[in-house]
Amino acid sequence: MTALDPRRYLFALKGMGIRTYAFEKDAARGGSVGNDAGAAWTEVESRVRACTRCGLSKTRRTVVFGEGSPEADLVFVGEAPGEEEDLQGRPFVGRAGKFLDQMIERIGLRRNDVFICNVLKCRPPGNRDPEPGEVEACRDYLFTQIELIKPKVICALGRHAVNILLDTDARITRIRGKVTDFRGTPLLPTYHPSYLLRNPDAIKEAWEDMETLKGLLKGGA
Ligand code: URA
Repeated sequence: MTALDPRRYLFALKGMGIRTYAFEKDAARGGSVGNDAGAAWTEVESRVRACTRCGLSKTRRTVVFGEGSPEADLVFVGEAPGEEEDLQGRPFVGRAGKFLDQMIERIGLRRNDVFICNVLKCRPPGNRDPEPGEVEACRDYLFTQIELIKPKVICALGRHAVNILLDTDARITRIRGKVTDFRGTPLLPTYHPSYLLRNPDAIKEAWEDMETLKGLLKGGA
């Protein structure tokens, strides 16, 4: 997240349904206003932390905004916080998180080098699948995070993340490892770490995907 074009910031906020005075003024005069990327990030984070857009705001213990570098070249997107994440307010800190750490190491990076977040910022009770209304309420937050970070590569972890990002309904076994595009940014779908813990035979493919990510980060296909 380097110097942010203020118009992108304002449009990102607009995408979240936030109409700012600055936006109205800016749109009216067709010019730009003086906000920076850090301010935009803080604004989005405080919106997410105070969010009551769906019923999960009543059952969550903590909002899980995401963590890592807001200037990361690589963003991992998971599904939703689980029990441990809901307790700690951090993404991927349970068993699946430990496996995600191994995936990140495989690329030669550390957790702080990337940004890790989820489609849903609040835990669905009992870790059930996200409901369409919850996805609808939360999706703009994720899109805004990606818009502000402007990563080189996005890695979608599991079928929920990839299908919500791409508005598709594909099986992860069919699409994993195939580089696609999210609004101009290369997106690689791979298995969710929880799936890999249940299906160790698939780990070999996940390691191949980490090699693909390495290549994409270096600028290759
Ligand atoms: N599974 C996810 O999809 N996200 C988390 O943060 C933890 C487990």
